[in-house]
Amino acid sequence: AAEQVKSHEHGALDVVMEGLRRLEYRGYDSAGVAVLTDNGIDSRKKSGKLANLTAELAAAPLPEATTGIGHTRWATHGGPTDENAHPHLADDGRLALIHNGIIENFAELKAELLDAGAVFLSETDTEVAAALLALIYRGEGGGDLALSMQLACRRLEGAFTLLAIHADSPDVVVAARRNSPLVVGLGDGENFLGSDVSGFIDFTRRAVELGQDQIVTITPESVEITDFYGNPATGTEFEVNWDAAAAEKGGYPSFMEKEINDQPQAVGDTLLGRSDVEGRLTLDELRIDPEELKAINKIMVLACGTSAYAGQVAKYAIEHWCRIPVEVELSHEFRYRDPIVDNHTLIVAISQSGETMDTLMAVRYAKEQGAKVLAICNTNGSTIPRESDAVLYTHAGPEIAVASTKAFLAQITAAYLLGLYLAQLRGDKFQGEIKDLLTDLAKVPAKIQQVLDNSGQIKELAELMADTKSVLFLGRHVGFPVAMEGALKLKELAYIHAEGFAAGELKHGPIALIEEGQPVFVVVPSPRGRDSLHAKVVSNIQEIRARGAKTIVIAEEGDDAVKAYAEHVFYVPETPPLLAPLLTTVPLQIFACALATAKGYDVDQPRNLAKSVTVE
Ligand code: G6P
Repeated sequence: AAEQVKSHEHGALDVVMEGLRRLEYRGYDSAGVAVLTDNGIDSRKKSGKLANLTAELAAAPLPEATTGIGHTRWATHGGPTDENAHPHLADDGRLALIHNGIIENFAELKAELLDAGAVFLSETDTEVAAALLALIYRGEGGGDLALSMQLACRRLEGAFTLLAIHADSPDVVVAARRNSPLVVGLGDGENFLGSDVSGFIDFTRRAVELGQDQIVTITPESVEITDFYGNPATGTEFEVNWDAAAAEKGGYPSFMEKEINDQPQAVGDTLLGRSDVEGRLTLDELRIDPEELKAINKIMVLACGTSAYAGQVAKYAIEHWCRIPVEVELSHEFRYRDPIVDNHTLIVAISQSGETMDTLMAVRYAKEQGAKVLAICNTNGSTIPRESDAVLYTHAGPEIAVASTKAFLAQITAAYLLGLYLAQLRGDKFQGEIKDLLTDLAKVPAKIQQVLDNSGQIKELAELMADTKSVLFLGRHVGFPVAMEGALKLKELAYIHAEGFAAGELKHGPIALIEEGQPVFVVVPSPRGRDSLHAKVVSNIQEIRARGAKTIVIAEEGDDAVKAYAEHVFYVPETPPLLAPLLTTVPLQIFACALATAKGYDVDQPRNLAKSVTVE
């Protein structure tokens, strides 16, 4: 993740370090900064988390400056070492560059630059971009940093956000973007750049989103945008609708705990203002013609990670309410298998960050095939909504912890709203049901709060289970994606082997894993639900118990039948079966978070992960 600032009001280093602190969730393998002073460029960089860089800066301080750039890294080319950290210097230390993304033709460029006499100190593709920029700057770029950036970008392939400063251009930062994210922050006598607005949220809420293949040059007083050929371009200005305090821990020991506790509000805010008193959905914000939506004959949900599980929940709900076939696919699989997509297909791209490269590429591919794309996204000014035909924002507020919690519940909520809206558009069959479901949805935030208020027991259990090596999760119907999300949380946060299965599939293989003492979470459907699903899951519990499993059951209040078969039961309030994931997910999140905390792990920044994966 890149963060940068051009500041006269505040010392550049303080601003950059504050920005990096807020952006660290995007990657935390290593970090570095460079400042521009009358004596040229000075930089520090360090592998490991930002704290290591802070210590380095205390030991070897940088001079006061008003222009600087900084970076936190999630390693792609070259391991997380001091040398591979950004910024990378070139032009005899007079130019500093930071980069997000992957430069796909770096090997070929590197060979060319080596022939031209360049020397490389790292294994990164970034250093190649720095050397290329320096060579152009000394040659056809004629010492003009913005022009040199244009010329360099025309030679780069892949995905990149680049930020450069040069000792000969005081007060200037030049940045470029292709595929990777970059936003501008507008200040008073100071301007900022960041991978997302949290990089400068302490200093301004006025931001500008940039388009694809654009270059921006900022000084304290000006922001100038062009394309890669120097033609003037404009960005879209927007106001960030949350403030710095929303991106703080607010008294909780971790962002994860805060975000789990933010969930009643995240769901409530996502519902807010989207239906009228008569119980009709009013999604006028969708920039998509209702007639076109009516003509849709297939929906494909594309997403990765936790967002893909939200998509699976959406499938059950939308198919039931709208009778439109819904497929859910991981974005990175979709694009490479020749999928059947046409102008009657609605693609629903779900992404918290709006920047996940796999999903962005899938969206572009689907658009090329003529599909309409609707994004469900939590981040204003991000790329996926900008490139989609329509967007339904989740209002979860900034999610900082790497593993998603409140954004997940908000995504499910938004997907329900979309499903109900499509049902409303497509006829009056369910109009009564829609109104009732909206009433039920409105009650969910208070019910999540109840689950949170009763979480003591599940936390105790998590602490007792800190040494567990493997945990299984079972669910059926909408409980199936919940089970997989429960398993994913445990893998991500506690590094425990965990798998989620469809409870009915158990007997076809996974039951072989059950041995004495194996902990198994079972997400039990409501006994008021469809057919005999509840009874089937209760049978599944008995089957594993008979083979020694230790069963931990999530069930609906009043479901006494499960007690006899469970070591532990955690009850969640009653709600219509399709809406249950908004409640049954919560104990699983709390469990994973508490267990990882008991093991002493950093729940906000689990190893090897990054929140916003902007490489394919
Ligand atoms: C990363 C994160 C996950 C997230 C996934 C999709 O892998 O670590 O928590 O679910 O990306 O992110 P998105 O921003 O597209 O929802």
